[in-house]
Amino acid sequence: MIKNFTDLNKFSKKELDEIIKIAKKIKKNPKSYSSICKGKTLGMIFEKQSLRTRLSFNIGMKKLGGDVIELNSKDIGFDSIRETRSDVLKVLSQFIDCIMIRNNNHKEITKLSQLNIIPIINGLTDYSHPCQILGDFLTIQEKFKNYKNLQITWIGDFNNVLISLLHLQNIYLFNLNLVIPTKILNKNKKILIKLQNKRLKIYSDPIKGSKNSKCIMTDVWMSMGDTNKAKVKYFKNFTINKKIIDNAAKDAIFMHCLPAKRGKEVTSEVLDGRNSVVLEQAKNRMFIQQAILIYVFKK
Ligand code: CP
Ligand code: NVA
Repeated sequence: MIKNFTDLNKFSKKELDEIIKIAKKIKKNPKSYSSICKGKTLGMIFEKQSLRTRLSFNIGMKKLGGDVIELNSKDIGFDSIRETRSDVLKVLSQFIDCIMIRNNNHKEITKLSQLNIIPIINGLTDYSHPCQILGDFLTIQEKFKNYKNLQITWIGDFNNVLISLLHLQNIYLFNLNLVIPTKILNKNKKILIKLQNKRLKIYSDPIKGSKNSKCIMTDVWMSMGDTNKAKVKYFKNFTINKKIIDNAAKDAIFMHCLPAKRGKEVTSEVLDGRNSVVLEQAKNRMFIQQAILIYVFKK
């Protein structure tokens, strides 16, 4: 059976714990994993821009002793014009062992993963960003020993990163406050209803939602591929500034998957400030993805 990594809600707590455990071990002792992927090749298709995901998968796979090839969707005919995507995958599977895809069409990734041809890793879609949130959970666990009683607050858009955070929260059941403009929240009610539980609380006021929170998390207001520029007006008062950080718990951390728009969803003072762990988050992407690669390759 082919193993995929398309969404966190496809996993049990036990499986995710295992991936996180491996990531911690790799981080502690990278040398002992330096040949675990010898003879394996990871293919990467980016249909959207990427700095962190591209670098962390590329360097991460090489540090495990494996090879990486970046494939341009158009060049290899992954656009379904020359041949079907499943036919492309069948050929790819003769040469490579796993494919990471970043695209704007989550349904496509789901479909491809169900073909059972080659392991598919979701490197971000319009719907979710599971590698990011699992990496962020590693960062959270490093900062707080007891994450079960942790209060996390998400302030911002209802987007792909948040959906993966909600998937994670549904598995680990930590306290999560969502501070989202009401108009944007209403548009996403259908998704939210399925993910509702008593540890998930909804706010529209960033000050109320961030009170005593140990972790303040945000992301851009306009994700890649989002054309709804008009929604930016709903984010008045949503910029994470010193006032919001001071309102959170004393030792609160600030998280952002990056890239950030300084002065929009977060001030430079907070992004570069002492509560910010954004660079640690970026670095942890590599360890978690190395663990994900080991997971998909494991027989
Ligand atoms: N956070 C993240 O996925 O960054 P990139 O878009 O640069 O890969
Ligand atoms: N929500 C952002 C995340 C970027 C890593 C986007 O999709 O553009």
